Formats: sequence, C-alpha cells, structure tokens
Amino acid sequence: MWNAITRAVSPSLDRCELSHIARTGIDIALARTQHRDYLRALESAGCRVIVLAEEAELPDSVFVEDVAVVLDEMAVLTRPGAPSRRPEVASVADLLRHYRPLEAIEAPATLDGGDVLRIDRTLYVGQSARSNPDGIAQLRKLLAAHGYAVQGVAMRHCLHLKSAVTALSDDSVLLQPAWVDRERFGDFRIIEVDPGEEHAANVLRIGDALVMPASFPRTRQRLLDAGFKVIVVDVSELQKAEGAVTCCSLVFRSDP
Ligand code: GLY
Repeated sequence: MWNAITRAVSPSLDRCELSHIARTGIDIALARTQHRDYLRALESAGCRVIVLAEEAELPDSVFVEDVAVVLDEMAVLTRPGAPSRRPEVASVADLLRHYRPLEAIEAPATLDGGDVLRIDRTLYVGQSARSNPDGIAQLRKLLAAHGYAVQGVAMRHCLHLKSAVTALSDDSVLLQPAWVDRERFGDFRIIEVDPGEEHAANVLRIGDALVMPASFPRTRQRLLDAGFKVIVVDVSELQKAEGAVTCCSLVFRSDP
C-alpha cells in the first residue's frame, strides 16, 4: 500500500518560479480540475491520497515533491534552492512526522526533491541550479547510516534531474539524452523519450504502474511497447508552471 502526500493548487500558481520555459497564462480553474484528475490517477495506481490545504501565498506549493525525500526508514526535509519555496517545507514536515523520523538539510546547503531519483538503494541527485554540492553532501551523510549511496549527476538545460530521467522499474529508466548523459545510466535498460517530445522523461512510478502526462503519446507508445502499464493524466496547466507528474506528490510505502 502506498501513501501520497499532495497539496491543492494555489490560486497564485501563475506567479510560480520559471527557469527553462516562458511564462504563459495559467487557467487556475483548469489546473485544479487537472490536479483532481491527477489525484484520481494516484488512487487508481493504489495510493491512499492525502491532500494538504492550498497555500494562497506560495505559488509553487502544489509541487510537494521538492520539499522532502521520503525513504522507508526516514524522511529528509529539503532546503529548496528557490528562496520563495522554503516556506513550503513546514506544513509538509508537520504531516510527515506522523509517518517517518525526520532529518533536515541545513543552510547553506540547498536541495530540491525533484533532483533526487531513487532507484533501489542508490539516490542519484542532479547537480542543478537548485541543488548545490553542499546539499548533495549533506544528503549523503544523512543516508549513509541507512545503507543508501548518494551520487551527484551532471545535467543541463532543464530544471531538475527528474525532468531528464525517471525510473520505470528497478532496472529501467526513461531518459532525455539531450539533458543527461546516457552513459551515466549505462547499468540500466534505457528507453529514450521520443525526439519530438522534449519534456516526456518525467513519469511517476507507483508499484508496477507509471503515471504520465497525456501530452506525450509517442513516448507513451514506447512504454506500452516495452510492456509497461501506463496511466495517463492531462496536466497541461501544471506543465506551464514547469511542473510534471512526479512533482505533485510524495509517494511512500505505508508498510515499509
Ligand atoms: N515552478 C516550479 C519550480 O520552479 O520550482
């Protein structure tokens, strides 16, 4: 059984941080409808969904993934790289402490959960504008006692490591080769995004299901052809906020 912590869309989502895409108008009502569809997709994948109240003054707060890294043994609260996002941490921490012992990344380190890709006992962490070397080092130190390896990964032209590569299974990844080197994930079976679907590498793995945006049909077909079970959800308004499907939830086992 899985838990998924989520947060309702902020009415100020159209004032979100943007790094690699241009600002275009966001339809907040449609974003909320799409977010509800996303929650239903999580439920259909087997999650018990928990929804935190919206935060009117925190535009990016729907993207809860960035404020914590949740493992079976414990959770690490992050210190997001964008200062505007740091106030998002406290309310997620108040909830998470009921599920896991908590540790925290401390200043001057920064770390965004969107940069942290866990596959089995290894955490690959994007060396991004949001996650600095100190953040990666602190995460490594906190998790060493629990037997996890933490490896920095070079990346380019995108916000987070999980914009460029996500796990399909314990031995397969979906990868955008323009944003992260294939060789870095050479131990895995690699499926590349369709060349016409630049942003398609972000899929959310829950058990044997993959939740992915509706806007990448050719990459979806690659996953179906490879035998994966795919649940599609339209998240076009969240994509305008440089969000994707992993960012909108913190998924963790309820029975670790
Ligand atoms: N708008 C998503 C982020 O920049 O964190």
